[in-house]
Amino acid sequence: MKKIILDLDTGIDDTLAMSYVLASEDAELIGITGTYGNVLLETGVANDLNLLSMFGREDIPVFKGVSHPSNATDFAVPDSSGIFHGKNGTGNVDIPTRATRKAEETSAVDFIIDCARKYGKDELVYVPTGPSTNIDAAFAKAPDIIDNITIVMMGGSLTQPGNCNPFMEANVSMDPEASNRLFATSADITMIGLDVTMQVLLTKKETQQLRDTGTKAGTFLADMTDYYIDISEQEDPAFQGGCNLHDPLAAAVAIDPTLVTTYPINLMVETEGPSIGRTIGDPARLLSQPKNTKVALSVDAERFVGRLMERLLKLARE
Ligand code: BDR
Ligand code: CA
Repeated sequence: MKKIILDLDTGIDDTLAMSYVLASEDAELIGITGTYGNVLLETGVANDLNLLSMFGREDIPVFKGVSHPSNATDFAVPDSSGIFHGKNGTGNVDIPTRATRKAEETSAVDFIIDCARKYGKDELVYVPTGPSTNIDAAFAKAPDIIDNITIVMMGGSLTQPGNCNPFMEANVSMDPEASNRLFATSADITMIGLDVTMQVLLTKKETQQLRDTGTKAGTFLADMTDYYIDISEQEDPAFQGGCNLHDPLAAAVAIDPTLVTTYPINLMVETEGPSIGRTIGDPARLLSQPKNTKVALSVDAERFVGRLMERLLKLARE
């Protein structure tokens, strides 16, 4: 059974990713590493602790990661993140349970390094659903782990325009240098970008099923996701009738790679100029660089959304 580390900037769809893994009997969530992005690091970590308390899973450790991009000393949440995820990260819906514990003393970076050395890439899958800062710091500190960890990341876009400006996907835009360094390594990386995450949606028909459970967790998940659907309708000119399932798709692929088809490609990230943050692929192999990233280009949306709903309903009823 795969051991999963989720690296979250929690975040509405990060919460759905956490929920997915928690309800998966075919994977073990061994820890959550916190990052910044949709919210500040401290807010995201507090959300992780409170969510795990609500789900009755205070046995899962939470670790604090780096609080800002690799080339900065500070971080401010972009206005667009506050709009899409609410000020608290969970659509301004309060998590109904307060954690009685704090994050671990060990840093996220050290936890990632220890796990990579202990388990290796066949057993361990690291799933970053925020910027690449923590894994970049882990690789800088312990280069020996680069080939010891499988990475399934939510971020980037090869064939679609960006979602925070015409070029950039939000996660890669937060720390383009870190993502660029990550793609240049020999690490086993699958990129779950906007190419596939824009093809998977949750609608109010599904959130109603969660609300119908009548449980604390079901009601919370429904209210939070309805906020995401409403704000997407309000803010996104390309609204498709529901919210995109960016982070849960990465979590699902980490457990079952057959949900997507991928294409091995050389990838880099623009680190300066007007299109900073853009992920650039070389499908024609013009640069003779190693095909170091598997980019997901199609997804079995029906199978994924069905499986997500099964797992969310199971978690909500527990
Ligand atoms: C990504 O950006 C964040 O807003 C979401 O949580 C997701 O990880 C989508 O571009
Ligand atoms: Ca996220």
